[in-house]
Amino acid sequence: MNSGSGPIGIFDSGIGGLTVASSVHELLPREALLYYGDTLHMPYGEKGRKSIEQYSLRIAEHLLEQGAKVLVMACNSASATASEAVRKLAGDSVPVIDVIDPAVGAVAEMKQDIRVGVIGTKATIRSEVYPDRISALLPAAQVKCLETPLLAPIVEEGLADGPISREVLRHYLGHSALQDIDCLILACTHYPLLQKEIEVYYQGRVEVLDSAGLTAQAVQEALKKTGSAHPGEERTAHRFLISEHTDAFANSAQRFFGRDIQLEEARLRV
Ligand code: DGL
Repeated sequence: MNSGSGPIGIFDSGIGGLTVASSVHELLPREALLYYGDTLHMPYGEKGRKSIEQYSLRIAEHLLEQGAKVLVMACNSASATASEAVRKLAGDSVPVIDVIDPAVGAVAEMKQDIRVGVIGTKATIRSEVYPDRISALLPAAQVKCLETPLLAPIVEEGLADGPISREVLRHYLGHSALQDIDCLILACTHYPLLQKEIEVYYQGRVEVLDSAGLTAQAVQEALKKTGSAHPGEERTAHRFLISEHTDAFANSAQRFFGRDIQLEEARLRV
C-alpha cells in the first residue's frame, strides 16, 4: 500500500477528467493530485476496446510508478472498457475508482421503475455497461442509451457554451431514444461542462446526473478504508501531465486550477 503522502492519480483522454479532479480537490483539499490527460489519443470514445485498454494500462502504470496511492479512471470510455485490466494491474497495491459505479449507485437510490437516459461516447454506450449495471440493481428500471460522439470534441475545443453546443444538444436530446425519461446520466466526464446548456434544454423536467462529485466521495471513502488519507496540512503541488500540448487543455486546466499551474508533457510508449 502506498503511503498517505502520495498523490491521487487521475486520468482521462483530455480535459473531461478535470471535472472529476476539481471535485476531488474541493472535497479533499489536502490531497495532491497527479493528473494525466492523454490528449494525443483523444477521443477515446471512437477507439476500439483494445486500444483504450492499452492506453489506460500504460497511464495507470506510469501513475503508479510516480507513487499514486489511488487510481481514478476519470473517463467513462476507459472505465467501461478497461477497468478490469487496470484493477488487475493495480492488484492489492492501490484502490481503483471508476466513474460508472458512483453514478449507478446514485440511480439505485431512486425509484424502482425509474426511466433513465444515458448519453456517452460510442465506446461507453456500445459496452452496455450502464443498462447492465442499472438493471442488476433495479430490474424494473428502463434504461435508454444514446451515443453522442460530437459532444466531447466540442467541449475539448472550448465550445461548450454557445450556439454550436446548443444546436448539437438539441439534436441529441430531442432524439426519440431519449424521450420520457426521469433522469439523464452524463456518462462522459466532458459533459458536466455542458450541464448548463442541458439544464436550459430540460427546464427542470429531467434530473441531470453527473458523476464528478459522487466519484470524489468514492475516493474519500477509499482513502478512509485504506488508511491512506494525507496525514498533514502541507501537500505537494498538483501535477498535470499530458501526452501532447494543446491550448484547449492548458486553458481548461487554468480555468479549473488557476493561472500558475505548469503542464508537463509526458509521452508514454504504448
Ligand atoms: N471523457 C471521456 C469519457 O468520459 C471521453 C472523451 C473521449 O472520447 O475521449 O468517456
